[in-house]
Amino acid sequence: VQGVRDGGGDPRPRRVLVFPLPFQGHIDPMMHLAGALHARAGLAVTVLHTRFNALDPARHPEFRFVEVPDGVPAGVAATGRIIDVILAMNAAMEASPAAVLGALASAMIAEDEDEEAPRAACLVIDSNLLSVQRAAEKLGLPTMVLRTGSAACLRCFLAYPMLHDKGYLPSQESQLYMPVPELPPLRVRDLFQTKISSHEMVREVIARITETVRNCSGLIINTFEALEPDELQKLRGELDLPLLLAAGPLHKLSSKTTGSSLLDQDYSCIEWLDTQPPGSVLYVSFGSLAAMDSGEFVEVAWGLANSGHPFLWVVRPNLVQDTDIAQLPDGFEDAVKGRGMVIQWAPQQEVLAHRAVGGFWTHCGWNSTLESVGEGVPMICRPNAVDQMMNARYVEEVWGVGFELEGELERGEVEGAVRKLMGGGREGAEMTERAEVLRRKVAECLDGSGSSRTAIDKLVDYMLSL
Ligand code: UDX
Repeated sequence: VQGVRDGGGDPRPRRVLVFPLPFQGHIDPMMHLAGALHARAGLAVTVLHTRFNALDPARHPEFRFVEVPDGVPAGVAATGRIIDVILAMNAAMEASPAAVLGALASAMIAEDEDEEAPRAACLVIDSNLLSVQRAAEKLGLPTMVLRTGSAACLRCFLAYPMLHDKGYLPSQESQLYMPVPELPPLRVRDLFQTKISSHEMVREVIARITETVRNCSGLIINTFEALEPDELQKLRGELDLPLLLAAGPLHKLSSKTTGSSLLDQDYSCIEWLDTQPPGSVLYVSFGSLAAMDSGEFVEVAWGLANSGHPFLWVVRPNLVQDTDIAQLPDGFEDAVKGRGMVIQWAPQQEVLAHRAVGGFWTHCGWNSTLESVGEGVPMICRPNAVDQMMNARYVEEVWGVGFELEGELERGEVEGAVRKLMGGGREGAEMTERAEVLRRKVAECLDGSGSSRTAIDKLVDYMLSL
């Protein structure tokens, strides 16, 4: 990378400020991007973060941290509902902009007082932080945006007004399987939705995301060219931005330590995986937010037990609605002795990279999907909400590396799905082969001249030119 140290004639090294949305699926990609900029180009990094889901600076001694008052009322924070928190946080920051202006200024100005300190080149924000973008504008600080979801998801957001005008949304039960020809291969049921937040709230969040994206000085998407070539091409036509880069999978571009798990990861599962035959274990995890009721939980447990296949299952606190720690059904532990392990939170990237893992039952959060793709692991998809439905659609229909387990969660269906993926039959084997082909494409995009590597170089040059 040219000019990292000269910053356009300025002898000081440059600093990048980053501000992730404080949720696991948003923090991780932002911290990985920061890690890549720091490790590859020597840029100094300041992380702005909220008290809600606060990051631990001690785990990242290479970065500087500045806390921004988030103003999220305790009642909203306690729900943990992402849409509600996004709206509350933006509303609070807009109602009293002095707090965010002060934090941004301290991240920029304090350094300028020191002759030797790196000068702030720009701020990279999560696309949900319009209020922060507005504050940065007042300070003359250019903002770049990180989209932590897929390119297809962003196209869906941009199309949201059209989807309403044409009557696809709000979706009607009778139209769920109707194709949306403007966004192939999506059907009405695959469009972004949530079960708990109101349609109006979702609409507002999406309108704010599109405004943030349209106003930014450059957009980085956590995807790669070979995964979503058509979607990226269309986005470049639809958005008139100075820079639009596909730089993912970001977790593959930085060292593992720049991940920022909010829960403690249980590494004992890696020792257990070491004892299992190659490709034999199904890894089961539904991400950081998805929840199920206690009846569904019992069906999952017995479906896994009855499948006869080894499994590693993440049962995180609050996975089961209204309980802190879910109780496994009587007799379950004896039934799966030696071939089933249940933990509260996994080092997921290491688990998926482990040779013993041959399948992933996932809720299809975008990070989980990319992490699975990156290791060539085929998927059983059980999307829950937000962008997960469309991610599952791409997994099944476009990339052919998994299938959706639809309908009510019932132990016989679960058992059948596990056997279909892991049982050595033709369909499962073909998905595994296609997953391996996709894994090689990931490896290629990360090569010296690969598309995502090059994207990071372009990004650094661009940041230094701002
Ligand atoms: C989801 C959506 O993906 C996101 O787009 C949306 O805005 C919010 O909801 P989440 O449910 O957290 O996020 O799922 P995912 O995107 O898959 O991210 C989960 C992250 O947690 C992954 O990076 C995964 O590696 C990590 N994880 C998960 C662990 O470290 N350990 C676990 O046991 C499970």
